[in-house]
Amino acid sequence: MTQTAMNTSSIEYHEGELRIARDTTNPQRLVPDAEDAASILDIGCGAGQTLLAIGARKRRVGIDIDINALEFGRSRAAGPGIQLAAARGENLPFADRSFDFVYSRVALPYMDIPAAVSEMHRVLRPDGRLWLALHSVAIPAAQFRRGNLKGRVYAAYTIINGLWFHVSGRTFRLKRGMCESIQTKRGMRVALSRAGFSNIAFQRTEYHFTVTATR
Ligand SMILES: C[S@@+](CC[C@H](N)C(=O)[O-])C[C@H]1O[C@@H](n2cnc3c(N)ncnc32)[C@H](O)[C@@H]1O
Repeated sequence: MTQTAMNTSSIEYHEGELRIARDTTNPQRLVPDAEDAASILDIGCGAGQTLLAIGARKRRVGIDIDINALEFGRSRAAGPGIQLAAARGENLPFADRSFDFVYSRVALPYMDIPAAVSEMHRVLRPDGRLWLALHSVAIPAAQFRRGNLKGRVYAAYTIINGLWFHVSGRTFRLKRGMCESIQTKRGMRVALSRAGFSNIAFQRTEYHFTVTATR
């Protein structure tokens, strides 16, 4: 597929995020500290912008459902040693215990969280580390305020799904596997503990909320 056939808004977003990831002085830059991990997996990687910012490793892999973003990443953003593949976070095409470090940067809110964190746990090696960056409630709240009727109904679903996630650690999928929710510390603690993670810790930055855990 040619560049012009790609979804422009998604590509613009990924281009912007790539610029931020490369600019170490930008206050919006949020790149996980992968320490000495040799094998790294980015779930919902877009064009691979964060993998690129992490720097050279033995193995850097990203997966996403957005074929256009992956194609853009392969042609423009991804560096040597980065492999980008089409896959769902809820069904990872990797062997058990195959990565040292797994992360997902503002992509988990669009996934069926229990299924996705269970897959993250499966592909991490024992003692492997997990890092997640999540949205604050401000994002769906703004979508609700600014949206048309359809947008408001969808934002209401996201907020209700977030309340359900808060109490149960589970999420409702819509048709064709679509899922979106708001995350809370409580919900994340329940979902990650249920999947088998330990050492769960939270941090709030100006723009995001991050979670770390170990397998
Ligand atoms: C807000 S973007 C974040 C992209 C990138 N991680 C970043 O930090 O800029 C969310 C990404 O999640 C991807 N995504 C949504 N649902 C997904 C799923 N079920 N499995 C894998 N990727 C998914 C989208 O295609 C999109 O690229």
